Amino acid sequence: MIHPGPVAVFDSGYGGLTILKDLMKAFPDFDFIYFGDNARAPYGNRSFEVVYEYTREAVHTLFNMNAHLIILACNTASAKALRTIQQVDLPRIDPSRRVLGVIRPSVEQLGALTKTGHVAILGTSGTIASNSYPIEINKLFPHIKVEQEACPMWVSLVENNEYQSEGAHFFVKKNLENLFNKAPKTDTLILGCTHYPLLMPVIKQHVPESVRIISQGPIVADSLKDYLDRHPEMAAKISRSGTRTFYTSEYPSRFNETASIFLGNDIDAIHLDANL
Ligand code: DGL
Repeated sequence: MIHPGPVAVFDSGYGGLTILKDLMKAFPDFDFIYFGDNARAPYGNRSFEVVYEYTREAVHTLFNMNAHLIILACNTASAKALRTIQQVDLPRIDPSRRVLGVIRPSVEQLGALTKTGHVAILGTSGTIASNSYPIEINKLFPHIKVEQEACPMWVSLVENNEYQSEGAHFFVKKNLENLFNKAPKTDTLILGCTHYPLLMPVIKQHVPESVRIISQGPIVADSLKDYLDRHPEMAAKISRSGTRTFYTSEYPSRFNETASIFLGNDIDAIHLDANL
């Protein structure tokens, strides 16, 4: 007998909250658990092996909390760990469970969005070095030209609550100037890191008005809807009491402060060791 459980949303820190917000809007009755591995964030500059190891530990922990479905709301983990988890770990742990990422759903939208056929990706050093976006885009839309820019400072600005500061303006301007110098024909810009929507007001000031800026929350919510329509057996395993439970590997007090500002209501997170 299968006991329905919550949908789990995982990120290295606060960034996945930008995905959770849209998931909660789209599925108000679902139970959600969120786990931010803030104590070990950022993941963006870490090696493939370390990101895989941290993500695998989180996946185990969330499965033990009876999640049947986990969303890796982190591009870095999606780029560096998702494939191995799906192909190697899941068949061993429990082939009926699912771990989904954020890169593929974002790429699927691109064909309909770009008019010039020139798109750009902003991401962590890890996501950009993995080339996951160009590879996926090339599979689905070989005619689209892709430029990328790694923004290694941006996650730290968000994690350290500096995302509205002068420092944020400095680094955002620097990376966007680099990008548009390399790729002036860009008409569609993907924020390929779930932390970046928190920098949106700053980003907008440094992007030409004609460029469409895509953040991933609504895309991931639509894609989950589509997935559950195609997989009613998974939809049946999701418990639906509308609860939201937050876990962080850091001190909850700091997490509560930032997450509450971002989600607009009080958060009372629980401490969780990621490497149990
Ligand atoms: N939110 C993660 C992402 O989407 C941030 C990665 C990090 O911790 O550097 O890539």
